[in-house]
Amino acid sequence: MSSSIQALDKWVRTQFLQINTELEEHYFTQHALLVDDEFSLSRKQTLLEQGKALISTILDNADDIPSTYEDRFYLLGNVGMYMAACRRHQIDAPLENGYSPLGEASTISFQLGSALGVAPRFMATHLGLYNRASNGVYRTFTHLQDETVFIDYNTLGTLAYKKASDALERAMRFGVSHPLTVYLLNDAKKALEEVLKFNKILDEKLDVMRFFYNVRPYYKSYRVGRRDYRGANAGDFAAVNEIDLLLGLCSRDDPFYLDIMIDKKAYMPQSEQQRLQDSIGKTSLMDQFLEEGESCCSLQQYRDNLTAFLEVCEAHGLAYAFHHDKLVKGYIEEPALKLSDSQKENLTASGPPLPVLLRSLGKLRDLRMARDRADIPSRFADLQKLKASLQTVGKKAGT
Ligand code: HEM
Repeated sequence: MSSSIQALDKWVRTQFLQINTELEEHYFTQHALLVDDEFSLSRKQTLLEQGKALISTILDNADDIPSTYEDRFYLLGNVGMYMAACRRHQIDAPLENGYSPLGEASTISFQLGSALGVAPRFMATHLGLYNRASNGVYRTFTHLQDETVFIDYNTLGTLAYKKASDALERAMRFGVSHPLTVYLLNDAKKALEEVLKFNKILDEKLDVMRFFYNVRPYYKSYRVGRRDYRGANAGDFAAVNEIDLLLGLCSRDDPFYLDIMIDKKAYMPQSEQQRLQDSIGKTSLMDQFLEEGESCCSLQQYRDNLTAFLEVCEAHGLAYAFHHDKLVKGYIEEPALKLSDSQKENLTASGPPLPVLLRSLGKLRDLRMARDRADIPSRFADLQKLKASLQTVGKKAGT
């Protein structure tokens, strides 16, 4: 790492971290999302100026910009964290011409974003899967324990989703009558049960008000150049959509669902974007079970696979239902009710007003749970058909 890049990284991990922590503790004692008193203003100014100076040095030494994808993505994370913190503390009011006052940070973010093929901003994965530890400590905005809890269980949830999608991807290659497919489906089920377990631990450990007041505000949308880029979202990784499509619970022909996938593409590194793209082109396990049911349903291995497949679908639905009914409701919807209208702006990562977002997330939950809803392309009827086929064969065989 060249010295200017290293200096920024060191600052993000020390003074930046310290200033944000002091500000958050100060806001929290005042029961406010933001405070603009003397104590806060001096720290905000220091944050603004120190970050600007470090980023200007990088810009002045163009050769310092790293050449590998991973290192550039990591640098975008550091610059983006600075911009996200400026947004969080509201020290980035646009200039008269509509541009962000963080000119140097905008320039470098655009340069990196366009070279990397991603949005020019901080993403959730910069604190998750793409977060390098140094001396045992990874980068965070603050020293607050609730932030670490949030990042840890998010990252564990993402890793578990990735385990499930890897297993399903391999299962697709075997097909639904292969004798070893059941082994992979059981792996996928275990991984999705882990997702639920991690979400439950997160719910036990994370303090609602700390999350709402001191952690989530760093994930807001912010301006780069003269455009706002939507907020960072814990769901910006490919595996959850790969699982939806490989299982067949969501469809590549559903514009509502495609919109969600396309929206998140720019908020993940290219390897993830590629996986997302590849999953759109594949047929689903559900469709394979339905197609091959006629000819294979008397085969024991097909029935074992189908039984395991139905369990995987259930585990996926339960994990996401918990996310929706407990995490989104408990950590965003309920605390938001207590805010004044002016404070409600910018509560969601993707931008739409909270009730609109909640309706859309509720739809996603019902697709993943294959609920009996006629107004969405739920696979309820197809799953009923597959369940019934198992019982019919069971009866014929006298089991
Ligand atoms: C306190 C904890 C959490 C809260 C309050 C929360 C809230 C939200 C919200 C509000 C959205 C919609 C994004 C938007 O604003 O447009 C969302 C999306 C999402 N979140 Fe979370 N989340 C939490 C934790 C997690 C965890 C631990 C995971 C698992 C890795 C996760 C996975 C997802 C996924 C996959 C999506 C994208 C929608 C999708 O494609 O399914 N979230 N979350």
